[in-house]
Amino acid sequence: MKFTVAIDGPAAAGKGTISRAVAARFGFEHLDTGLLYRAVGMKGGDPVLSARSLVPADLARDDLRSLAAGQAASQVAALPEVRSALTAFQRDFARRDGGAVLDGRDIGTVICPDAEVKLFVTASAEIRARRRWLELGGEAAFETYDEVLAQVRERDDRDMNRSDAPLRPAVDAVMVDTSDMSIEDAVAFAVATVSARL
Ligand code: DC
Repeated sequence: MKFTVAIDGPAAAGKGTISRAVAARFGFEHLDTGLLYRAVGMKGGDPVLSARSLVPADLARDDLRSLAAGQAASQVAALPEVRSALTAFQRDFARRDGGAVLDGRDIGTVICPDAEVKLFVTASAEIRARRRWLELGGEAAFETYDEVLAQVRERDDRDMNRSDAPLRPAVDAVMVDTSDMSIEDAVAFAVATVSARL
């Protein structure tokens, strides 16, 4: 069976948690597409060549979740040749047998416009920055909350305003605003949406 769940939205809106939970619930494979761009950003050198020569070990680096990797990813992700080098891998993953969940920025709009389910997960910039700051260690974190908020805004701005595959909801995406939702409620909503289409 081929069944694709596309989950898009800005940084730290809850896409990752929702995607992993949906994949586990239905036995689908999950691809965090942000990791591809993070790996290209952290590999250094010419980003287009890096994207064309990405290998599994590049995705296993332990610094891919850092703020620096997020910023580097957002910069290389604005290059059309980087995006096109990563397209076939994502599309193949999406149509694998047994079902797939992909989370990112352009899954429902560009990578899988025919996905069976499209969710656009969002939350206010302040709430997303607070979640990311707490993930980084809160008061013990190297960055202050204000620095994290500035980076979230900068990344939103770059991701939404680039000319190639900008971050925006597909016209047929189901919107999920997690600002005032518990993660359990957000997951339950996503699971119910997928169940209804299966
Ligand atoms: O989801 P994330 O924070 O790991 O993504 C890091 C950056 O990669 C994000 O700021 C924009 C880019 N990205 C993208 O352009 N398209 C995707 N499908 C996933 C991520």
